[in-house]
Amino acid sequence: MAEFVIEFGKDGRPVEPDGRLDAAAFHRNHQPIWAVLERLLAGKSGDVVEAGSGTGQHAMYFASRTPDITWWPSDFNEQHLRSIEAWRAHAGLPNIRPPLRIDLSDPVWCPQMRDGGQGSSLAAPGPLLAVLCANVVHIAPWRVAEGLFAGAGRYLRADGRLVLYGPFKRDGKHTAISNAVFDTSLRDSNPEWGVRDLADLEKLAAAAGLVLIETVKMPANNLMLVFGRNTPG
Ligand SMILES: C[S@@+](CC[C@H](N)C(=O)[O-])C[C@H]1O[C@@H](n2cnc3c(N)ncnc32)[C@H](O)[C@@H]1O
Repeated sequence: MAEFVIEFGKDGRPVEPDGRLDAAAFHRNHQPIWAVLERLLAGKSGDVVEAGSGTGQHAMYFASRTPDITWWPSDFNEQHLRSIEAWRAHAGLPNIRPPLRIDLSDPVWCPQMRDGGQGSSLAAPGPLLAVLCANVVHIAPWRVAEGLFAGAGRYLRADGRLVLYGPFKRDGKHTAISNAVFDTSLRDSNPEWGVRDLADLEKLAAAAGLVLIETVKMPANNLMLVFGRNTPG
């Protein structure tokens, strides 16, 4: 089994006849991620975009736990978009919308979100309660992190949160030897990829009017990073 997955459905894991894909990591990490999200989202309602949803399993699970929140999963990979939609049909939940085709390297994300959805016949979320992005920015070029933060700065509401999950460096150093090994394997696969440094992400945040407000240590040397507006309303 590959240590990281670029494209689900090509990694030897099962593909259901309806297109639902299964990510091994989902089964390991969805409960720890939920434990943090549950606290952040408690008592809140509104729209949440998941950026780079992959199979769609996280969005489905979190939607099942948050009936007052509308989830908008997204990706730019066709097979992943099909899987997300298949999971959505399978779950039959009222609070999960069809996947948005978002290319995170575009700071606008997708045409229907530009200008609050005006001028588009496609459904779009309103000002966002949160953006969740798990295990994406290290398996993508830096411009994806740039677009993620720029879009979050554009679309988050005053009390909104951008939440990242994954491995990160601190002060230029890996937090574990396993993360250094992982980083090398990522860069060997694609020189534009790699475990990102918190300080570099904080610079992107600042440019988008956001600030790091919480860092949560997670199992397997991962972190959850919570960003909010630097001038909350
Ligand atoms: C390692 S997977 C993580 C998927 C899911 N968040 C998870 O934790 O299981 C990375 C995801 O990022 C998506 N991705 C990569 N580059 C992207 C981009 N430019 N725009 C949107 N999604 C992108 C991939 O298609 C893939 O679904």
